[in-house]
Formats: sequence, C-alpha cells, structure tokens
Amino acid sequence: MPEKKEKFYLTTPIYYTNGLPHIGHTYTTVVADVIRRYKRMRGYDVVMTTGTDEHGVNVERAAKKAGIPESEFVAKMADAWRALWDELGIPGDEFIRTTDLKHVRTVQWLFKLCKENGYVYKGHYTGQYCIYDNAFVTEAKPGDNCPDCGRPLETVTEENYFFKLSSFQKPLLDFYKKNPDFIQPDTRRNEIISFVEGGLKDLSITRTTIRWGIPVPGEEPHVFYVWFDALTAYLSAVGGPEYEKRGCWPADLHLVGKDIIRFHTVYWPAFLMAAMLPVPKQVWAHGWFLMDAAKMSKSKGNVVLPRPIVNMLGMDALRYFLLRDVVFGQDGNFSYDALVTRYNSDLANGLGNLASRTAALIEKNFAGKIPKPGALKAEDEALAKEAQAAIGEVLENFDKLSFARALETIWTVIAAADKFLTSEQPWALGNSEADQARKATVLWTTAELLRIVTALSFPVLPDSAAKVWTLLGQSEALGKFELDGLRWGQLAPGIPLGKSQTLFPRVDKTEAIERIESMANEELNPTPAAPAPAASAPAATGTSAAAAAPAVSDKIGIEDFAKVEMRVGQIKTAERIVGADKLLKLTVDIGTEIRQICAGIAQYYEPESLIGRKVAVVVNLAPRKLRGVESNGMIVAASVGPEGRPVLTGFHEEVEVGARLK
Ligand code: MSP
Repeated sequence: MPEKKEKFYLTTPIYYTNGLPHIGHTYTTVVADVIRRYKRMRGYDVVMTTGTDEHGVNVERAAKKAGIPESEFVAKMADAWRALWDELGIPGDEFIRTTDLKHVRTVQWLFKLCKENGYVYKGHYTGQYCIYDNAFVTEAKPGDNCPDCGRPLETVTEENYFFKLSSFQKPLLDFYKKNPDFIQPDTRRNEIISFVEGGLKDLSITRTTIRWGIPVPGEEPHVFYVWFDALTAYLSAVGGPEYEKRGCWPADLHLVGKDIIRFHTVYWPAFLMAAMLPVPKQVWAHGWFLMDAAKMSKSKGNVVLPRPIVNMLGMDALRYFLLRDVVFGQDGNFSYDALVTRYNSDLANGLGNLASRTAALIEKNFAGKIPKPGALKAEDEALAKEAQAAIGEVLENFDKLSFARALETIWTVIAAADKFLTSEQPWALGNSEADQARKATVLWTTAELLRIVTALSFPVLPDSAAKVWTLLGQSEALGKFELDGLRWGQLAPGIPLGKSQTLFPRVDKTEAIERIESMANEELNPTPAAPAPAASAPAATGTSAAAAAPAVSDKIGIEDFAKVEMRVGQIKTAERIVGADKLLKLTVDIGTEIRQICAGIAQYYEPESLIGRKVAVVVNLAPRKLRGVESNGMIVAASVGPEGRPVLTGFHEEVEVGARLK
C-alpha cells in the first residue's frame, strides 16, 4: 500500500470583482503557486484555493455603471480573473466565487452554528449613510460629505445582526500563545496581539441597506456583510458543511497582504471558534509592492500589469523577480529597471548562460552524452560540497518562506559554477587521454551542479527549469521529482542530452522597458485598433492575411478602394521579436522611405528568406504598436487553409519599388 500523503491546504485571498488583477494580486497568487509546487516536491498532497469576492455596494455600483445586472457583471469579472490566472499558469486547484451556491449555503450554515451557540444577536447599527448611493460610509463622521458623490451624509440607524467578538478576547489571546506560528511574520503577530489586548467590540455582520449579498435565511432584507461572507469562502471551497469528507480543513496556510491581516487573524478564528470548527494553522501576511512609494490603484494610475511583462520577458522572469527582489513579508518598490536588470544578470547571463555553455561543450566534446567523471581534484570537490550544502539551505529557506534567501543561495552556486568553468577552461584542453579525462570531470561536475540548481529552482521557474531538466536528459517530470531525495552525484554518465531550447534571450534594457510600457498602455487604454490584450488570443499580425476580415455585406465604390494606398515594397531586414513568437520586425523600402513594419508571419517564414523580396504594402495605414513594437504599414498576404496561413504576394515580372497597386 502506498503511504498516504500528508495534505497541505493553502489559499490566496479571494479578490474583489470591481477591478482587474495587477501585479500586487499577481504577487500573492504567484507566491501561493510557488509554495504549492514546492510542497508537492516535498511529498504533500496540496490543494490551493483562489477565487473572487463578488458581493457588496461597490459591485452594485459598478454593475449599474456598466448597465448590466450584478450577476452578469460578476460572472464576466470572475471569468476574467480566472482566465488571467490560467494564462499565467497559476490557476487555483479550486476557484471559489462568493455567488456559488455551495458558498451561499456554507455562509448560512456558519451563521446558524454561531447563532445556535449564542454568539449572534440582533442590534442596531448607526452610521453615516449616503441616501443617493444607498451605502454606509464606514470611515465618515457626522457632518461629512459622501466621498463618492460629494453630497451630505445622513446619520442613519438600521437593524443588524451582531457577532459577539468581545467574547473572544481571551480565547484568541490564549490561542495566539499556544500557537506562536499562527500569525507570521512576527512583527504582525505583535501588532495583532496588542490590538486584541486593547479590547474587541462586537461586529455588525448583516445589513438591510445592501441588496447585493447573501440573504440571511428567514430574515430578509438582511444580507451578510463583507467579511462574514468573504472569509467563509476558504471553507466553502473544500466542502463547506461536509468539510470532513474532503479532508482539507483546517487550512494549513492563508496567504494574505498586510492590509487584511486583522480580518484573518481576529475575525476568522473567532467565527470558527464560535461555530466550534477547526481554526486554520497559519496566516502569513506579505508586504505591498509599491509604485512610486504608493500602493497601486487604478484611480492613482500607477498600476503595473502582469501581461506586458510576461509577453516581453516570460512568466518565469516575472516570478523570479517578485520573489528575488523583495524580502517576503516586507514592502518593496516595483521598478521596470530593476526587473530587466535582474532578468539580464541572473537569468540570461546566469542560469541561461550556464545551461547553454555546458550543453554546447558536452555536445562538442562528448557527442552530446553526459561524460563519466574521472579522478577528482580539490576544486571539483569544493564545488560539489558547495552544491550539496546549498540543497539543505535552500529547502530550509523555502520552508520558512524566505524566498529571496533561497534564490540567493541557488544563484551563488550558479556563479561558482561559472567561475569554475572559466578557471578550468575545458575548451582549452587537448585530446590526450589525461586532457579528455579532465574535460569529462569538469563537464560532468558542471552538469551535475546544473541538475541540482534546476531541481531547486523549479518551484519558482517551472517552465525554464523543466527545459534545462530535459536538456540534461532527465526523463522524469520535474514537478514530480521528490526534493528529499536530491543528492550530489546522482547524474548518470552516458545519457544523451535532450533538445536544446532558447532559455532567456538577453534584451536591451531601454527597448524592453519601452515595449512593456507601451503594451501596458495598450491594455489600460484600449483603442479599437489595438490588438486584444490576451496573450492567448491570436497575435495581431500586421498582415492582411491574419487580420480579422471585416464582414463585407455591401459592395464598395471605387472611391472607397482608392482610400487604400498600396505600393510595391522591398524587404531590407527581417528579425524575430523577443516575447512575440508570431511577429517579425521588417524594414521595408517603399520607394520614398524605409518603413518599419511588423508582420504576423514568423511561424511560416524564416527571416533570412525574406531579404530582398518584393511584396505589396498598405502604406497609408495609421501606425500602431504590436506587442510594444511600432508598425507603420501592413504587408499584404493571402490567408490559406483553416489556420489562415499567410502567403505573401509576389510579382512575376520585374516591378519598381514604390509602384502603386491599383
Ligand atoms: N476581497 C478581499 C479579500 C477577502 S479574503 C477572504 C480583498 N480583495 S482585494 O482584491 O483587494 O485583494 C487584496 C489582496 O491582493 C491583498 O491582500 C494582497 O494579497 C493583494 N494585493 C493587492 N494589492 C497589492 C499590492 N500592491 N502589493 C502586494 N499585494 C497586494 O481585500
């Protein structure tokens, strides 16, 4: 009988649906995914939940503004959040929406348990209310104006259900004492303990002035208010009232931003204690990513979006940067400059360069097979010792969620291997038996080190680590590899290297930043001409072949056709574009000038084959950016077959560059 794996249940916050994800939300979800992959490699049966928080006044308002019913509005938003996590390769194993029926039932059940146990009573809530927006403004004082519409607020009293939070001061303090790791990091624990020691007031958990919420059974128009509803999602995602069947509860880890730590470490355990349900094991609050020293928000116009970064540098680069550049738990500043600098130094010049250098040397000297090491020198043993020691250190740091530390250790080992290769110079050794043996030892040592750092970096760099793993001829899926068994010396000689793949092509910093910013601008301010932002959507191409054909229902007059200026152009240069596998960047002579044009033909034409070719070009199209690269014109091509393969036009006779097509 196989041993039963220990479960590990972790969650991200469930995100509000009145906005779309930015890098701050992406950060929490990426961290959760890194922990999920890491724990799986340590033999746990992991479940990760994420989802959307869909009730409340803000959604009511946003739906009204969009002119659609709330249910339709939140369905669209939830789809957009889910689609982005899928696209970025970080989907939850469970995706819970607070409008899901199973969630509604769980909230009502939790309320019933709290009420039966005597922790819920009916009372009155008095607050400042905007009669135009139909909402309480919790932070307002009598006499204030509404922060949204600017009109005077009124003091209003409504009937609410209250939760007896005040009864939980002692139980919570006792619980924190008995479970010193419940709140992490320690600074947050101290903050929360002083807050609870300062006394707890009862909490209003229902509203009668909000429509868009989960109804309190038999008590309409009462609906549950924000946190009683939202926090319960962690439990509804894994069975709700039948949580014992699924076996995930209590959660092992709630990952949250520091803004919502109090709700997770005071309200949530109190609700669960009141219902006599198991309390989560740990809540970890990370810091914020700041932009220009301020928390990101769309209204401030300082949000950083994940997609443009991923299109330019790849998801692994973003993951690496988020975890390497900021100490987990502290705030950090986001800067494109730091992102691209890290990409070039640690990924392109670091891991990428070591992998391609090692593979090329093995290819050349040992016909692409891992060589057998001979007698070891002190340098080889020192490197082996360093890599072996790194395994323990990295695992310990991953366990503590000290991601920056773990990565720093891995990259120190990578730097040591680079230095080793540079000083041993295997390329300078000859063909004598001794030289061949030395070459084999040096290259086996480097390849073995590469195998170890690759396995250790998988949780953070899943795509690239898997590529290096395959390159090293390893057939086992890296995600299933058990890190507990990782030791120096396991790389078997004689196995053939796998297919080599581009890892992290170096980028020009200024150009990369410009392109990321330009793609972000396209996504934040879409123009009808701009391509769909989704990376999974077919790339806009700049050729007429792949551009969506307009439905032609009516015939057009010659004057309409005359508006399109088409000329013979000659392709002067053609190159691939980093981060846009479908596009080629061309420079085209159109007789009067040389234009830069992007064309979506990269999967069908080799850049070199195009030089000198004459093609038809639409020259009076407004310039636009495709994947952040300026495109000034369009190359005409036929669209062939169901997949719309572009076939460029040609001329059977000599034609002059710049000649007009009529
Ligand atoms: N819906 C509530 C959470 C309910 S959980 C039961 C909520 N949603 S939110 O959409 O505002 O997302 C908050 C979470 O997003 C934060 O806790 C944090 O994890 C993440 N972040 C949002 N902005 C962030 C930064 N600028 N930096 C880092 N993380 C941030 O609150």
